[in-house]
Amino acid sequence: MSYASPKKSPPPVEILTTSLLRLPQLQKIHQPNNKLFVESLDLFKKSLTALWETTPTVSVRSHRGRLYLNSNRVPTDKTFSVTVTRFTEFLESRKIFGINFLKTDALSDDAIVDFFRELNQAALQKEPNLYLLEKLEGNWANVIADKDFNIAVVMATDSSGNARPVIWNAGVRTLALKAKKSYSRALAVLTGLNDKLSEGQAVNINKPRRVVQDMVEGLFQDENLLLSLSTIRDYDDYTCTHSVNVAILSMCLGKRVGLSKLQIMTLGLSALFHDLGKVDIPIELIRKTSKFTDDEYALVKHHPLHSVLRILRINAEHNLKSKLLISPFEHHLGVDLGGYPSSGRVSPMTLFGRIVAISDHYDALTSSRSYRPIPISPEQALDIMLQVSGSQLDQILLKVFINMIGIYPVGTLLLLDTREIGMVSQTIPGSDQGRPLCYLLDFEENQLIRGDLVDLTLRNHDGSFVRNILRCFHPTEFGLNPSDFLL
Ligand SMILES: [Fe+2]
Ligand SMILES: [Fe+2]
Repeated sequence: MSYASPKKSPPPVEILTTSLLRLPQLQKIHQPNNKLFVESLDLFKKSLTALWETTPTVSVRSHRGRLYLNSNRVPTDKTFSVTVTRFTEFLESRKIFGINFLKTDALSDDAIVDFFRELNQAALQKEPNLYLLEKLEGNWANVIADKDFNIAVVMATDSSGNARPVIWNAGVRTLALKAKKSYSRALAVLTGLNDKLSEGQAVNINKPRRVVQDMVEGLFQDENLLLSLSTIRDYDDYTCTHSVNVAILSMCLGKRVGLSKLQIMTLGLSALFHDLGKVDIPIELIRKTSKFTDDEYALVKHHPLHSVLRILRINAEHNLKSKLLISPFEHHLGVDLGGYPSSGRVSPMTLFGRIVAISDHYDALTSSRSYRPIPISPEQALDIMLQVSGSQLDQILLKVFINMIGIYPVGTLLLLDTREIGMVSQTIPGSDQGRPLCYLLDFEENQLIRGDLVDLTLRNHDGSFVRNILRCFHPTEFGLNPSDFLL
């Protein structure tokens, strides 16, 4: 007599993945008290509770069509592989790479229902990943918005080889996405504001203030990230990108010299407005590729004054407006007061004016312009700026600025905008922004291995860099020994 072996129930991760696919569907068609819905909800909770017994953060994600539970690949048989494929599609349709579940003792049905509602809502959004990042930030369940999450998990592996599940890198990507969003919002707000001013319409300070507030928050969370945004270049929309970049650089420098959040916000706003008056200069002059005649230069020199006149027409509190006027007026004046507009004044330039002048110089030199299609390298730009240190630019602030722009020592870990991680292998004397050579770190079956050697000074045909550095880290932060990769 033979007995059929009892059917083994699937492992919790399989139940969890299946529930993640089933519950959003059931929620669309059933009331929360529907029997099928309640049963599925129960299975979901049980599987999660079982997984939370081994780790407080359960992360399920898909990478190259494979399913990972934290940093471990989930073995997949034929039946389950169909679920994995569907789960990958489910994530892809929301532009996310996985989901984190943070252990909580009081997980209510309502909280789960809310979570699945947001997953359903996200599928209807233009930017589902941004929607989910915003809606689920700090929630017991949140999303992994970037595939480099796995690298963060491996980088957190301790010396005995145990992976410590972290959602740290998901946080970095959240910040990066948010920062990029505030950058494009700043561009849109500035363009809108200037268009309205040109048409003689009333404009309010609130929108620009919110945009700058967002960037100040970003600056206090991750200075490098904000700084890396200032390398965005848009040749067609030079004045706007230039103004946003000058605002970012000024805010970063303001933070370095110890200004308060409120002061940095005012500084950022005034820097954002420093070239508002450029639209009052004939466009032919702005686009001119040859040298200005004396008459043309006289016209160009009017733009700080035009900026002031435009700011005066913005609806804002009197006190704030008077602070916003100063650096646009002073940004070409020079610490020796020998620049323009010449007013015969004797009082020294203000701190805000000095900061904006440095940021303005740097961004203008390192951007391509109609008369200089190939931009000057950051290092050359800093050299040129050093030559006018003490006359046009403040000596001490310039030193702080040069220090802020920084370099990358060998062994530094770099988070690149190609979503790769690099380790600096060699610095290149005189390279742009101190851009080094680095090894890309590849991820293979839970191990970081040394990949290709790449040159971060390489550019695409359009002059932009192939890879940009988003952030750098000290390798010891992740228990990595550079010599394991470099020697
Ligand atoms: Fe200017
Ligand atoms: Fe400028």
